[in-house]
Amino acid sequence: MDHLDDAFIMDHELIEDLIKFYNNGDILSPKEKAELENVVNKNCLESSTIISNEGEYFMSSINRNTEYISVKDLITGMILAMDIVSTYGSEIILKGSVLNDHSIDVLQKLNYEEVLVYKSETEDEIEAYINSYVDCGYEVDKNKIKKLIQEVGTGNPLNVEYVEEVTGSIAQQANTNLPLEILEKSISKDDYLYTHSLNVALLASLLGKWVGLDDRSISLLAKTGVLHDIGKSKLDKDLLDKPGPLTTKEFNTVKKHSEHGYEILKNIPDLEREVLLGVLMHHEKNDGSGYPMGINGAKISAFGKIVAIADVYSAMVANRPYAKKDCPFVILDYLENECAEQFDLTYLRPFLYNIASSYIGNTVVLNNGEHAKIILVSSTEFISRPMVRTEDSFVNLAKQSSLKIVEVLPMLDS
Ligand SMILES: [Fe+2]
Repeated sequence: MDHLDDAFIMDHELIEDLIKFYNNGDILSPKEKAELENVVNKNCLESSTIISNEGEYFMSSINRNTEYISVKDLITGMILAMDIVSTYGSEIILKGSVLNDHSIDVLQKLNYEEVLVYKSETEDEIEAYINSYVDCGYEVDKNKIKKLIQEVGTGNPLNVEYVEEVTGSIAQQANTNLPLEILEKSISKDDYLYTHSLNVALLASLLGKWVGLDDRSISLLAKTGVLHDIGKSKLDKDLLDKPGPLTTKEFNTVKKHSEHGYEILKNIPDLEREVLLGVLMHHEKNDGSGYPMGINGAKISAFGKIVAIADVYSAMVANRPYAKKDCPFVILDYLENECAEQFDLTYLRPFLYNIASSYIGNTVVLNNGEHAKIILVSSTEFISRPMVRTEDSFVNLAKQSSLKIVEVLPMLDS
């Protein structure tokens, strides 16, 4: 038994390995089994404590449907939507774990008949769904945005019909849980302004949903995203596409686009005030460091604040004329640690949490070259530094400041 005790004393031993020893107990004598159960129970409790002490980690269940499925029908890659608890009350497999052969084996040995998993869209179905919007709907919406921005640029009136059509399509995407995957697949240097406007609309309506706004507001956020940079239609295309840093004079010209947008939209009959203010204020900052008015805090409209967050994320996650795209967790870290004063935390934190949680189950590359799977995301602090599982241990990146995520691998390659 000594070698087992030694193994269990290791703090970072995987919980699943603990239960594996437990389930091999039937080869032991009753005395040995009792001894082993004590050790396993003690260490499961310690392991659970280690995790719960890390700071209220939990799996995002927001926007994700669940279903009970027979244990015999489980397949690798399904994500558990419930905690599996031992007879001692200790957590053995945590909600949010991506099932593998071993954990399925453990569930069978524990005599579970059914477990709750996140619902049942297969990777093929998800892929097909994403592709259907990327291949058809996304392109159609992007081209409508392109046309309406170009028309305004040549002095024609805003094509309100297109605005409404695109807005409806985008607001629908906010209900599918998939816009984030769509964004990653749609990133392209071509037509940056139009792609960016569509992506901001998708992200802003999604953030509206995450903070519990009603359907009307989500739809208006989509519209604000579509129109937020409409003022750029008045700027020289060479300036917008300049592949390098802008001079101060050039930057001051670009900064005028929020006011241009307001001017273009202010006389449109029935255009909602929330949309108009959102367009005008999407570069204002919570600490007063933004433009065009330099207003702060409560003076900035909610739509201005939401679109501002979507705007920065969309810009950084895409290849743009002056820079290459960043890794999502690099952006989340930047927003969480360097921009916390610039954005309203009421919107920033749900945004960070939901974006980070969308990568649970993805394989990532750490800056030491190691591959790891994202297991848990903190809802309280260090959202951008989740708990990951490497080949042989759990690593809480919030506590390992020298380690960071530098690349997220696509789910299908994970
Ligand atoms: Fe802008």
